[in-house]
Amino acid sequence: MPKVLSLSVVALLGAAFVSADQLVDRDPVPAGYVANPYYPTPHGGGWTDDWAEAYEKAVALVSRMTLAEKTNITAGTGQFMGRCVANTGSANRVGFPQLCLQDGPLGVRTTPNVTAFPAGITTGATFNKELMYQRGVAIGQEFKGKGANVYLGPSVGPLGRKPRGGRNWEGFGSDPTLQGIAGAETIRGVQDQGVIATIKHLIGNEQELYRMYNPFQAAYSANIDDRTLHELYLWPFADGIHAGVGSVMAAYNDLNGSATHQNSMLLNGLLKDELGFQGFVQTDWLSQLSGVGSALAGLDMTLPGDTLANALPLFGYSHWMYELSRSVLNGSVPVDRLNDMCTRIVATWYKLGQDQDYPKPNFHAWVGSANGQLYPGALFSPSGLVNEFVDVQANHAVVAKQVAQEAITLLKNNGSFLPISTNVPISAFGTDARADPQGINSCTDKGCNRGTLTMGWGSGAATLPYLDDPIGSLRRKAANVTLYDTNTFPKVPKPSSEEVAIVFISSDSGENTLTVEGNHGDRDNTGLAAYFNGDELVRKAAATYNNVMVVYHTVGTVIVEPWIDLPQVKGVLIAHLPGQEAGDSLTEVLFGETSPSGKLPYSISYSEDEYPASLSLVATPLSQTQDTYSEGLYIDYRHLNKDGIKPRFAFGYGMSYTTFELSEASVSAVTKLDRLPPAAPARPTSPISAMNTTIPAASEAYEPSGFNKIWRYLYSWLSKGDADKAYAIGSRGSSKYPYPRGYSGVQKPSLPPAGGPNGGNPALWDVAYTLSVKVTNTGSTYSGKAVGQVYIQFPQGTSYDTPIIQLRDFAKTADLAPGASQTLSFQLTRRDLSVWDVVEQNWVVPNPSGAYRLWIGQSSAELNTVCYSDSLTCESGVASPVVV
Ligand SMILES: *[C@@H]1O[C@H](CO)[C@@H](O)[C@H](O)[C@H]1NC(C)=O
Ligand SMILES: *[C@@H]1O[C@H](CO)[C@@H](O)[C@H](O)[C@H]1NC(C)=O
Ligand SMILES: *[C@@H]1O[C@H](CO)[C@@H](O)[C@H](O)[C@H]1NC(C)=O
Ligand SMILES: *[C@@H]1O[C@H](CO)[C@@H](O)[C@H](O)[C@H]1NC(C)=O
Ligand SMILES: *[C@@H]1O[C@H](CO)[C@@H](O)[C@H](O)[C@H]1NC(C)=O
Ligand SMILES: *[C@@H]1O[C@H](CO)[C@@H](O)[C@H](O)[C@H]1NC(C)=O
Ligand SMILES: *[C@@H]1O[C@H](CO)[C@@H](O)[C@H](O)[C@H]1NC(C)=O
Repeated sequence: MPKVLSLSVVALLGAAFVSADQLVDRDPVPAGYVANPYYPTPHGGGWTDDWAEAYEKAVALVSRMTLAEKTNITAGTGQFMGRCVANTGSANRVGFPQLCLQDGPLGVRTTPNVTAFPAGITTGATFNKELMYQRGVAIGQEFKGKGANVYLGPSVGPLGRKPRGGRNWEGFGSDPTLQGIAGAETIRGVQDQGVIATIKHLIGNEQELYRMYNPFQAAYSANIDDRTLHELYLWPFADGIHAGVGSVMAAYNDLNGSATHQNSMLLNGLLKDELGFQGFVQTDWLSQLSGVGSALAGLDMTLPGDTLANALPLFGYSHWMYELSRSVLNGSVPVDRLNDMCTRIVATWYKLGQDQDYPKPNFHAWVGSANGQLYPGALFSPSGLVNEFVDVQANHAVVAKQVAQEAITLLKNNGSFLPISTNVPISAFGTDARADPQGINSCTDKGCNRGTLTMGWGSGAATLPYLDDPIGSLRRKAANVTLYDTNTFPKVPKPSSEEVAIVFISSDSGENTLTVEGNHGDRDNTGLAAYFNGDELVRKAAATYNNVMVVYHTVGTVIVEPWIDLPQVKGVLIAHLPGQEAGDSLTEVLFGETSPSGKLPYSISYSEDEYPASLSLVATPLSQTQDTYSEGLYIDYRHLNKDGIKPRFAFGYGMSYTTFELSEASVSAVTKLDRLPPAAPARPTSPISAMNTTIPAASEAYEPSGFNKIWRYLYSWLSKGDADKAYAIGSRGSSKYPYPRGYSGVQKPSLPPAGGPNGGNPALWDVAYTLSVKVTNTGSTYSGKAVGQVYIQFPQGTSYDTPIIQLRDFAKTADLAPGASQTLSFQLTRRDLSVWDVVEQNWVVPNPSGAYRLWIGQSSAELNTVCYSDSLTCESGVASPVVV
């Protein structure tokens, strides 16, 4: 979400305000893409035991709230109207506080004294589930320590469909299983600390350019067919909901031409009925387009509360708050829907135990000094202590460093060049080797690439408490280090034959609110090349030095062809986005104190042209941009494999200093699969249906007399006149509101075929097969950690078109000494072996008695061990199923 609307944007909006009621016409979505109605919003509560107690308490509390209290807790109090990036209104009278919602996925944003953790993409590259969880634990502790109720992460959308997509780095990699597992581990870690996690952005936010509505233009429409949505983009959200995530954030863009936060099929149908989501849905910042419409479509909370696309923010306009009070009094939004919104919010708060002494915010997201304005968005704001500077870092640097280190991915090591000795002279090149000389936090939200790239830019960035930069660490460890602090190859003395040149290069991206080196969030200018002509820097170094080592800090996939085959380029490490621990995490690998064990969370191809054109950035600036997912399931390795394109470095690839061998693979069947899962249990009645649904008295929304309002702070009250007028409309009975096609307020008696609580039909999570394999360190010098990856291949003759292989589970060993071994085990669920059938609207195992090939290997291109689901046998030494 944008931090601030720059003044120029506000001025622009101001100019357009007079005539900004109507958005410009948009192009129709391509034929066939539909946003069908799905009403009403299914009640939360009553679905499962794990939410039952929280719902019971929530129903009791919400039942005691007045109308103005209920509408107060479903919206933020306005941009810059409180200490956090959003702050909801409270119902203090009954003991429900304001909630503090705070960015971002890799750490508490815009405040010091926190840990700047490695980014999502780095975390994905560890392929280490336990570490993913531990990072979540540490993040959760820091959000709680700062008094934030809601963590605005993890991000599993974008999924990384577009190589140039600006925010791919906030998520975990270009595969739904990797995203799903890493997202779920993060959620468990965070929520085990009592902090509400927010899985985002639902859905199709795969590009930054044209993502948002503004008075001149519609946001783009992500046009996604049903099967692709289920098998790729919705998949990690299902995992997050299965892990109990408390909140879901909608995306800025449209899905099939209907904005995600008011797309009833998406929110009411897919999210709340099919996936049985029990928490609350929030908007992305300033994205709300309609009041009644979004409420009916399943939105539960609008943030930070203001409008943007059809009226200026910062002037006290909201689609909800006082307007939601009006909409309930005039009968357009059923009381039942408001009860459900509030109960979902309050139940989530109870479920996470936040009713028990949860700390209040002790920082201010927009004010840096100790004392300052409480509400910087107000014309006149009270001032006071706003930053207590509570240090929440504890020993989290340990887990941060471990993630940074276990992500480091060794792509080339010609002649076992690495590790290098600390005694050889080292010349380091590139400004990425050292911290930003103007200050490690000198650019707002990291909106520049001026020194070691530790994270991308935008709302997903955090304040570095310090930066262990690579050059500092090199100097601490090695005897003779020279830094050439330039991205243009300098004049250097003739190197000795043993001298090593380490070239630091980077590729950055971020959120569309800021432009860096001509890149508008997405890498629209730099593409997949290194910033600052880094590829040329490597080539020049290789023309002078015999031993060149490349360290690449990058947000995502890059093209390495300009230099990868040069014989002088002996070693290449992808160090991803390490956060604050960029130094020792790297040099301990370089000097052999530990072996690299990271794996690529995306493919690296020979050329960007090898991806389908539909994965390019799209723009039709004068009308609505259509982003149509015509490639279907075929992104990243799924696409390269299908078209028989050999990747330069395959998804899941990464070398070690030692070698590992897989042996003794075995498979056992656990749950017998039929073509269809057993029907989900019926949905019991929610306690919400017993709540009072009569339109409340207008007086419940009256503005109290003598209340000292802060100008443009958002309140839920109406004037007596307005409240009475609305009530008069509502009390006439059937509302004149032009309800959308297909609207109904009556709860559906049954669930959709795939529906069920906490992620869908529980049978989808039945374990169908377990696999195990013994991993042995067959080297003689170095210890190291190995990653086992399991990919499934559907039986031959399957009537559905399926990718050749798809990642379904992974596991990492402990540090294995030479000769040591460990057995890794894996699980495959019913869902893992299913396809989404668009006609049956269910997960189907196409051929339950057929031979699924269950491949076990160390990357998607090193699959030589296979187990068969029919014979329950395994063999090794088998040819790879894909071009390698
Ligand atoms: C989007 O349109 C496609 C093509 O008709 C359809 O398969 C899919 O279900 C639609 N998605 C939603 C959420 O309505
Ligand atoms: C709404 O929340 C604000 C902020 O906490 C509070 O000042 C106001 O009194 C609340 N309104 C109601 C109706 O409780
Ligand atoms: C918090 O961070 C500020 C700014 O970096 C620093 O000056 C201060 O010493 C830190 N306080 C604590 C308690 O760590
Ligand atoms: C009720 O109020 C809402 C919010 O102002 C408005 O959009 C809607 O049209 C009103 N309904 C009626 C029937 O007047
Ligand atoms: C450091 O290495 C450079 C380049 O090989 C060499 O010229 C210089 O003498 C070395 N310095 C020391 C103190 O060894
Ligand atoms: C690896 O290094 C050897 C010399 O040690 C060289 O002959 C060969 O071309 C190099 N291979 C690559 C891929 O750079
Ligand atoms: C339901 O709410 C209406 C309006 O506030 C009130 O008049 C009525 O007494 C309530 N019914 C019950 C059973 O509490």
